[in-house]
Amino acid sequence: MKTYDIAVIAGDGIGPEVMAEAVKVLQTVAELDGGLCFRFTHYPWGCDYYLKTGQMMPENGLELLSGHDAILLGAVGTPGVPDHISLRELLLRIRHDFDEYINLRPVKLLRGASCPLKDVAPENVDMVFIRENSEGEYSGQGAWLYPGTDREVVIQDGVFSRKGCERVIRYAYELARRESKSLTSVSKANALNYSMVFWDQIFAEIGREYPDVETRSLLVDAAAMFMVKEPQRFQIVVTSNLFGDILTDLGAAIAGGMGLAAGANLNPERRFPSMFEPIHGSAPDIAGQGAANPLAAIWSASQLLDFLGHEDWGARVLAAIEALLERGACLPPDQGGSASTAECGDALCALLRGDM
Ligand code: NAD
Ligand code: IPM
Ligand code: MN
Repeated sequence: MKTYDIAVIAGDGIGPEVMAEAVKVLQTVAELDGGLCFRFTHYPWGCDYYLKTGQMMPENGLELLSGHDAILLGAVGTPGVPDHISLRELLLRIRHDFDEYINLRPVKLLRGASCPLKDVAPENVDMVFIRENSEGEYSGQGAWLYPGTDREVVIQDGVFSRKGCERVIRYAYELARRESKSLTSVSKANALNYSMVFWDQIFAEIGREYPDVETRSLLVDAAAMFMVKEPQRFQIVVTSNLFGDILTDLGAAIAGGMGLAAGANLNPERRFPSMFEPIHGSAPDIAGQGAANPLAAIWSASQLLDFLGHEDWGARVLAAIEALLERGACLPPDQGGSASTAECGDALCALLRGDM
């Protein structure tokens, strides 16, 4: 029996609601497989924990997490707790300190998911974003000088290291080569005259080692436009931390909505656990109503299965999500249905079992 120790940080808002379904799906996979077992350890960290203790996670939080094979995260953020504290001290801290420098986000329109674009077939929206996930615009470095005076100045630094750029760009080239897909780099060297000029230079340098990979470079503004006008242009995309954040919400919008968008935060060397999460937030506007779509969280569980070497199960879970969408029954409100979060998760498990 192969046993995996999974840390679960359900977090805030709809986080616990969607997480319950992701865990349910992994338990169903384990049951059906027979040779697989997941041991879940739930950590009650997040904004409630912060309001009680003044910290988003305990002092030894990272040490506790480091003993696990992987981390599942729901969502973080509650009105009343400043986002720059809650997110920086939990989610971004884990991504950074565990060197999860690859943020892999599929933007794939499944059959049955609603696409707001006109005349777009599902196969035209099939991209994988590789977002730099450890530095760049998210370095957290800067200064706030003379606060509250008329000399007030804030500085937010972007940090682009050679190592940081090379490793994420190389990862993207490798993926493009392995899957025989084109690779698009998204940057903004016309305005960001240090960071993005450097990024483009490294993209070209590494590209010389991959003459077999077809490449393109786009400015981020044009990339946003083409994602809407001609999404079929994109296959593998590599970009910086902030651009990747913004473009993958746009990607979510063209691929069925936030309720269907998943992401993996990977430490490819496996020195630290990787973390799997829906890309949406805590959705305070619908929290506590059982109305959240759990499919993004479930898709991230399928990415976890892939990363642990169970690609067969990862693919089966993704196929079950697509089958559920195609049937159009047991879907939550964001997909035009009236099922609750739990009913949707139950239906997915029934599909996996072949009971539906
Ligand atoms: P959000 O993603 O929480 O919500 C945006 C919109 O999408 C809302 O209308 C919401 O109802 C809808 N939505 C999101 N997920 C959904 C789901 N699974 N099913 C149905 N509808 C869904 O973004 P926001 O409102 O900008 O942020 C809310 C809070 O979440 C903030 O505190 C923000 O900082 C935080 N946040 C956290 C994460 C994370 O933990 N990974 C990601 C993004 C935002
Ligand atoms: C995401 C989120 C986070 C990010 C926030 C909550 C810090 O928007 O995972 O996309 O910007 O990376
Ligand atoms: Mn985001």
